[in-house]
Amino acid sequence: MKVDVLLGLQWGDEGKGKIVDYLSPNYDIIARFQGGPNAGHTLVINGEKTVLHIIPSGIFREDVQNVIGNGVVIDPTILLREIDGLKAKGLTLNNLLIAKKAHLILPTHRYLDAASENAKGKQKIGSTLKGIGPTYMDKTGRNGLRVGDIFTPNFKEKYQALKDKHLALLKIYPNIDFDLQGEEEAFLASVERMKSLQTIDGPYFINKALNEGKRILAEGAQGSMLDIDYGTYPYVTSSNTVTAGVCTGLGVAPKNIGKVIGISKAYCTRVGSGSFPSELFDKNAEELQRVGHEFGATTGRPRRCGWIDIPQLKYAIMINGVDEICLTKIDVMNEFDSFGAVNSYMVDEQETMQIPFEVNADIKTNTKIFSGWKSDILSKKFEELPSEAAEYIKFLEDELETPINLISVGPGREEIILK
Ligand code: GDP
Ligand code: IMO
Ligand code: MG
Repeated sequence: MKVDVLLGLQWGDEGKGKIVDYLSPNYDIIARFQGGPNAGHTLVINGEKTVLHIIPSGIFREDVQNVIGNGVVIDPTILLREIDGLKAKGLTLNNLLIAKKAHLILPTHRYLDAASENAKGKQKIGSTLKGIGPTYMDKTGRNGLRVGDIFTPNFKEKYQALKDKHLALLKIYPNIDFDLQGEEEAFLASVERMKSLQTIDGPYFINKALNEGKRILAEGAQGSMLDIDYGTYPYVTSSNTVTAGVCTGLGVAPKNIGKVIGISKAYCTRVGSGSFPSELFDKNAEELQRVGHEFGATTGRPRRCGWIDIPQLKYAIMINGVDEICLTKIDVMNEFDSFGAVNSYMVDEQETMQIPFEVNADIKTNTKIFSGWKSDILSKKFEELPSEAAEYIKFLEDELETPINLISVGPGREEIILK
């Protein structure tokens, strides 16, 4: 067996959570491989909304195992709060497994994140301030603490040493408000509670499952354009969000990667700083934001909106090796008389399909305009889509040279069209 992958092709929030929840009955294991509680994956089941930050989106299927993999960074306080919230909804959480090599986010990582953003002023990344960057810095800097460390007798000393290092570092920044004592108490209490959770040796667990013929889906967080290497650097997150991240994040060999499903909205959004070539600043942007309820699932910040971007998607498809696309939120276009798709860029007055080294405001875009359908999408059948919607999907498939096999037409679990 091979590990299938589902990940975002844009700047995050493509609807990954909904689609993973929908697909999870086809799998034995759902595994997060990177990122941390900067993610906000929304599930709407029987009209009830749940936002998952760190727990994989297969958790509502009790017979599916949900793995938080090695490549993830875990904030114990957020993890335990999420577990408590799901238990209150009646879940057992017996199907949650945590890799011992996953790194821990300390309160002082969040403190450092806030101080660093504050010091950057106008150049700030627009981080979710969950401590992601500083935790990955400690991982690559070989200073980090991992889940497995909580079981060692000298965990408190290791924690103290890293905290002291952080407090020394924080002296280079102007003071910011942070309740370290309160946060530390919550952290240590959550670490104690974490000891009773099921922990696993990530790579052995995953490879044994593969050998036994189990079906595994890796669930991406963030999006390809937020990848630390291939995104719009420096306005990115601190992990590899692309398919390659599955290999390092779960301990899976490249030859064991199976089908790659890329998710894109029918338009495009971005939250946080950094350019986004197809961004709109007119009433269409307001309309996309209003109809699409484009507000961050983790921070509540308004998401910036624009048309779908073909050069950007082609780039993401190339890097991820996408086999098929899931198109989400096409219902948001229901009310538009017309809408656009950016089909090439103008860089130094030359038309190009290539993303330049620096993605900034100098990129001009060419836009193809489509007629809207001005009606609700009521049917579950692809053949019964309004002809304008079918035409748009056909255009995307042709331009992207990739089939669109899943079309999401609403936030609910069942609101989906299979082609
Ligand atoms: P994720 O981070 O990729 O899991 O996406 P988010 O949950 O942050 O954002 C997606 C938002 O769109 C959530 O509020 C979902 O409930 C909602 N959503 C997902 N698919 C659809 C869809 O097809 N149509 C509409 N209208 N909303 C959707
Ligand atoms: P999901 O999984 C959208 C953005 C932040 C910021 C940048 C760096 O829900 O799609 P970080 O907290 O990692 O230091 O922030 O990345 N960002 C996301 N944007 N969806 C996400 O996750 C995001 N996670 C981080 O807004 O611009
Ligand atoms: Mg999200």
